[in-house]
Amino acid sequence: MKKLSAYKHLFGLIGYPIAHSFSKNYFSDKFLKEGINDSYYELFPLKMIGELPDLIHRFQNLKGLNVTIPYKELVIPFLDEIDENAKEVGAVNTIKVESGKLFGYNTDVYGFEKSLRQFLNQAQLKTIKKALILGTGGAAKAVKYVLKKLGISYSLVSRKIKKGDLLYEDLDEKTLSAYQLIINTTPVGMAPKTATFPDLNYNLLDSNHFLYDLVYNPEKTVFLTKGKKQGCMIMNGLPMLHLQAEKAWEIWSFLIDKK
Ligand SMILES: NC(=O)c1ccc[n+]([C@@H]2O[C@H](COP(=O)([O-])OP(=O)(O)OC[C@H]3O[C@@H](n4cnc5c(N)ncnc54)[C@H](OP(=O)(O)O)[C@@H]3O)[C@@H](O)[C@H]2O)c1
Repeated sequence: MKKLSAYKHLFGLIGYPIAHSFSKNYFSDKFLKEGINDSYYELFPLKMIGELPDLIHRFQNLKGLNVTIPYKELVIPFLDEIDENAKEVGAVNTIKVESGKLFGYNTDVYGFEKSLRQFLNQAQLKTIKKALILGTGGAAKAVKYVLKKLGISYSLVSRKIKKGDLLYEDLDEKTLSAYQLIINTTPVGMAPKTATFPDLNYNLLDSNHFLYDLVYNPEKTVFLTKGKKQGCMIMNGLPMLHLQAEKAWEIWSFLIDKK
């Protein structure tokens, strides 16, 4: 294998730990299919975000990075510039490196908005008065930002009262009937713990509810299976995952095309 420094353009993912990576497969496939031979995508598990400047210094050919747990927020002080969306969300999942400077973006915002519009047509979107967001982490921040932009009011559901607006135990019949869209932004149900699901009384859901799961592996989580059984319309996290990666590529390839 060629040395990483020998590629013209290097890309990668920072996070810790990095067990499996959709991004590495996605971009390696892309380079292969599109005959991009001078680029490579590598995983960079950083034990501390403070290791980032050294990584940038070590690989002068680094053009772009994806950022995953636990650094989407912690990376912000290391950036030279941050785009408006990412600043408002308070989380960065994509970095462009240009002339040694780091520019931060949040492509989850784009991915979530576009996939939500694919899930719900304009008429259906108008029927959504309120949304429930399960979880209060980084992904929930991007979801909140998009809902606000679309004029959909929302409540956050957390395991701890101080972090959200509601607890799971508050989700009784009256409460659930007031919300038409329920978005799972927790990792509950994700492989390998595929038998787990958010703690809701699924019998209280009906065909007026739309369930969106940000989890993409498995494609049909127990959350979605249970919702479907109740007549809900369902959407998984795969379209969002692809859309956020495509957006990252749009940001990076512009840089490559210029050179
Ligand atoms: N499809 C996509 O493109 C896409 C993009 C981004 C993220 N994701 C997925 O979204 C999920 C969340 O990502 P994230 O970065 O926001 O993760 P995170 O910050 O680690 O966790 C999100 C929130 O989930 C809740 N949570 C965590 N463990 C839980 C448990 N065992 N039971 C109930 N609630 C729990 C916590 O909220 P409380 O403490 O308030 O309960 C936590 O803040 C992951 O599965 C990730 O893969 C998908």
